[in-house]
Amino acid sequence: MRIFPRLQSGRALGIGLLGAIGVTSLCALGGPQSAGLPVPFKPVLEVEQLMEDQEIAFKGLKTAIIDSKWQDARKYSWLLAELANVNQQHARDAKYSELAGEMVSKSMELAGTLKNKDAKAASAGLTAINQVCSSCHKAYRK
Ligand code: HEC
Repeated sequence: MRIFPRLQSGRALGIGLLGAIGVTSLCALGGPQSAGLPVPFKPVLEVEQLMEDQEIAFKGLKTAIIDSKWQDARKYSWLLAELANVNQQHARDAKYSELAGEMVSKSMELAGTLKNKDAKAASAGLTAINQVCSSCHKAYRK
């Protein structure tokens, strides 16, 4: 389960208050991972801009696969995974979060698949990502 933006200030306040009490309390509050963030996480782009970048990455990925540029394709997959990871921070509800999370896992999965330099498997991975784009757009794009 990801942290929703509106929960972050509350969490930050909690962490501030508990700072004096100690690390054990911090873990009870947010878990070691969120307590360990070097700075509070906040996306710098609006969803619309983030999506334009996702499209650039997706097109780059597709072109790299067509051209058999496997290393480039892997980098675009990682980029897509991280953009989707940030997109989770824009979640309106659990389903949005889940779909963005699915894009993270499909993109990371494809990055792994690309190591085999198999055009057919790469193409299937691309289709799987594209299906997640469509599912989310069907539900959330105005
Ligand atoms: C978890 C949800 C979600 C996923 C997954 C998702 N999108 Fe989006 N996308 C949105 C939403 C919401 C909008 C509408 C944003 C707005 O206009 O405020 C949008 C809009 C867009 C737009 C239009 C942006 C504009 O300038 O108006 C593009 C292009 C786009 N998405 C590309 C993609 C691509 C490519 C993928 C898959 C690689 C993808 N999206 C996956 C939620 C998602």
